[in-house]
Amino acid sequence: MSCAGHCTKVPRNSNMEKLQHGYLFPEIERHENMHLEKYPHANIIDLGIGDTTEPLPTMVTSSMVDFVRGLSTSKGYKGYGPEQGEQALRKAIADVYYKDLGIKPTEVFVSDGAQCDITRLQLLMGPNLKIAVQDPSFPAYIDSSVIIGQAGDFLDKVGKYKNIEYMKCGPQTNFFPELHKASRPELIFFCSPNNPTGHAATRKQLEQLVDFAKVNGSIIIYDSAYSAYITDDSPKSIFEIPGAREVAIEVSSFSKFAGFTGVRLGWTVVPEELLYSNGFPVVHDFNRIMCTCFNGASNIAQAGGLACLSPEGLRAVKSLINYYMENARILVNALASLGLTVYGGKNAPYVWVHFPGSKSWNVFAEILEKTHIITVPGSGFGPGGEEYIRVSAFGQRDSIIEASERLKYLLYQQKN
Ligand SMILES: Cc1ncc(COP(=O)(O)O)c(C=O)c1O
Repeated sequence: MSCAGHCTKVPRNSNMEKLQHGYLFPEIERHENMHLEKYPHANIIDLGIGDTTEPLPTMVTSSMVDFVRGLSTSKGYKGYGPEQGEQALRKAIADVYYKDLGIKPTEVFVSDGAQCDITRLQLLMGPNLKIAVQDPSFPAYIDSSVIIGQAGDFLDKVGKYKNIEYMKCGPQTNFFPELHKASRPELIFFCSPNNPTGHAATRKQLEQLVDFAKVNGSIIIYDSAYSAYITDDSPKSIFEIPGAREVAIEVSSFSKFAGFTGVRLGWTVVPEELLYSNGFPVVHDFNRIMCTCFNGASNIAQAGGLACLSPEGLRAVKSLINYYMENARILVNALASLGLTVYGGKNAPYVWVHFPGSKSWNVFAEILEKTHIITVPGSGFGPGGEEYIRVSAFGQRDSIIEASERLKYLLYQQKN
């Protein structure tokens, strides 16, 4: 690259140089903008990025409004809070989300979201580790791994970075990795229900995962951002599995659970029993990272989070989740009625659709061109996502119905 204007003497971080393209979701947005330039009057329906659309329950916003009003009074004003989160919220998360699982409030670290915690966990672990990810998986695990310096060069031919283990999780293996084929990663990123496939790992699968981590001495970073969408008896937390406290960290979020994608609130659980190879507790280092690299989540967001975890709040957020899951059902029915093989939509607000023999970016482009609907190409989640697209069930009901009709029309025409 040549220097057109004034160039500083600062070299570009070589890890940043390794990153491929843009981060997936801004890349999708770029395609949406190009499409709008071409068709300025198109009625675009966005079933792409997976952002929540429904208004927050009034009792949740009221609690934030009350808190904000208090900030303008001498009695209610609050400045910095504890870096680990307000005690009441840490306790509510432990009590409500991890009821009977023995998670202590001191093991819960409140944050500004799961994505930020994923990167802070990478900072905690450092560059000298080998990671494994589900393939396909949420792109933040791999991108943060590249940024921190754990990855080798990108291999164009296979669409993978060197030194990252891509554990294929497709329908042939019930969306679970063939662990006996995996090398011995130090860190395993595992997301359940998985984004993008929508698969919630079964208890038996998670027992195998915990066993594998124990035998290999690995740490699992378990992302349960969609656990509230589970409708069957799949575990909602890795800590439901005996022995997980010695091998796992759990990252989670209010984003999809309560529509807080813009408010920003999440948490990470680091059990006291999780130790490094020298016997030092990981929780002490994570505490240090939170104090140094973060300064506590917004106290306004935390007031809202606490309201979500009250009995009334839980009822209200559950009805939002049911709404999105009804959307998922409508999309699954529409796509399956055309004879397509459709996964997900049962334990997660994502529908994972197979287009055998097709490149997923081509399917994405054709759907956008012909129906003005944004989806996400499966290969954006790793080479294991090739031939698939992900359709998000987040959206207002009339858009979901309209999108289902447009997709049915396009795919019916293609078939006949
Ligand atoms: C699996 C998964 N983890 C984490 C996140 C990010 O969550 P947050 O909004 O809390 O940063 C997302 C967002 O889509 C996600 O799909």
